[in-house]
Amino acid sequence: MEVNRRSFLATAALAAPAAFAGTDVSAAPSGKPLRVCVFSDIHYHPGVWTNTENTSFLEKIMARAERERCDMMIHLGDFMHGVRSPAQKAFLKLYNDFKIPGYHILGNHDQDGNPYKETCEAYRMPDGHYTFDKGGFRFVVADPNYFCNGPGKFIHHGSGNYFKRGKGSTINWIPPEQLEWMRATIVGSPYPCVVLSHQSFERAHCAPVMNKKDVQAIFNEANAKKPGTVRLVMNGHLHMDNLRVLDNILYWDVNSANYQYFAKAHSRYPADYVKTHRGAPHNIGWKEPLSAILTLWPNGRIKIEGAKSDWLFGVSPEDAGYPAYDEDGRETLPVIKSADMTFAYSGVRP
Ligand SMILES: [Fe+2]
Repeated sequence: MEVNRRSFLATAALAAPAAFAGTDVSAAPSGKPLRVCVFSDIHYHPGVWTNTENTSFLEKIMARAERERCDMMIHLGDFMHGVRSPAQKAFLKLYNDFKIPGYHILGNHDQDGNPYKETCEAYRMPDGHYTFDKGGFRFVVADPNYFCNGPGKFIHHGSGNYFKRGKGSTINWIPPEQLEWMRATIVGSPYPCVVLSHQSFERAHCAPVMNKKDVQAIFNEANAKKPGTVRLVMNGHLHMDNLRVLDNILYWDVNSANYQYFAKAHSRYPADYVKTHRGAPHNIGWKEPLSAILTLWPNGRIKIEGAKSDWLFGVSPEDAGYPAYDEDGRETLPVIKSADMTFAYSGVRP
């Protein structure tokens, strides 16, 4: 299939020695690596989205994490649309109580059905933004789920308020206090940092964080003081797979575990399926769940073992009349690319 061939070529291109400035893909690893199972935007919503009628997608990803002996798991937001029904509570419990510690990042939809503090409590998060140190790395969880209704008026998403926000409001802000917290947490970190967020800090289009330049300035300030402090910045949200090196930092757009969303409905899925998944006409689903195994070495090596699936019911975006590429030129594909690269900091080869 054309799509699979393209996916393979994309994977092969990234797995081969890359011409990234400041990288050395041949360097041998040293020190103990940390292994993380990464997935995003699983959007558990039974009766609505594709592949959420049961827990099988989540279970397959957890089984991979176990098989790959991961130290931890990260979900990059939009885990579900509220924690109210017994089914939602059971889905969350499955992940929260798993033997491998799993971390949450709040997405724009996670608090659709609850106040945001209630969501944090259910997700066992101290707040929307928080930090933890693990295996010699500092993980900094940012929370841009604020809309702005005028200068200084930042309101956190909660109980679906974001659907009723005012006409002049703008979305995806890191409020000033959180920026200060990020600066203190990152610049003062004794460990290399991995920054996690649902929305993108690097995209030009498709609703990135509004004040992303302020956030990038913090990363660059930290790296100017101590090279290699911010190494990897990851996000979900757009259900796309992309790797970009900017200012010697790897920015990773992590694909959805489940599907791509399109506002216009299509009619390519079987009528029986649509009866039990009423949002499916807005989805182009994957056949199998997507996740990645991320391995981080202290010396600057970053390895991503991705995954490749196929289209649910064989229907691609093009088959359903949608554009394959978004405004940033990123393509909807049932793929997370693999990559293996080692970054050099201060011009010193590891
Ligand atoms: Fe999202």
